[in-house]
Amino acid sequence: MKIVTFSAPEELYAFAHRRIETLAEEAVRDRGRFTAALSGGSTPLPLYRLLAQSARMPWDSVHLFWSDERCVPPDDPESNYAAAKRMLLDSARIPDDHVHRIPGEDSPTDAADAYQVTLRRVLGENGRLDLVLLGAGADGHTASLFPEHAALEETDRWVLPVHVSTASAWRVSMTLPAINAARDVLILVVGREKRELLKRIERGEDLPVSRVCPTRGRLAWLVAVS
Ligand code: 6PG
Repeated sequence: MKIVTFSAPEELYAFAHRRIETLAEEAVRDRGRFTAALSGGSTPLPLYRLLAQSARMPWDSVHLFWSDERCVPPDDPESNYAAAKRMLLDSARIPDDHVHRIPGEDSPTDAADAYQVTLRRVLGENGRLDLVLLGAGADGHTASLFPEHAALEETDRWVLPVHVSTASAWRVSMTLPAINAARDVLILVVGREKRELLKRIERGEDLPVSRVCPTRGRLAWLVAVS
């Protein structure tokens, strides 16, 4: 695991931007395409805006997924897809059939089942994502894997419906098997409000985001909390 600390969010986003461009170019060179799952939340949005302006990204060969989604329609203000569409998809020339959103408008179970099929279809039964982007909530959740939730213990399925009791809302989330199968995972932690979270992780607390540990891949934490 690598932790890269930045003195300002702008430096973190510039680093992540270049890193993702490099990963994409290497994946296309080696395997003919780049498959990446985007994170929800607000942290990655400035990064998506930078990627939208990228002259290096091989968009024609990129397949985009999401690490989780709220169970809302794709034009809902809460939708992770809607946020990425505004910041990235509307500007980058990604083929429509390369954008694999989680159907949040469906029932949680139907959406999770459909997404599991989509992942297996596009990646192949033994496939894996090239990159998973993640954020981390102040309580240590990542994607929509929340503390004490049964979804954390899933060892087989790649996608599950998750009821978030604190928000009285349903979500669909990739599971740890899906995340930890990736070739690269980048966890972005930005903002003073995440300082305590980092201290809890450094103390070794068993938090959902602490369980992200790619089995045959690389993990990097990009941190700007000063
Ligand atoms: C979501 C994200 C979630 C997010 C964290 C951090 O759907 O909200 O997947 O895991 O990454 O809650 O959110 P912020 O980036 O807004 O702090």
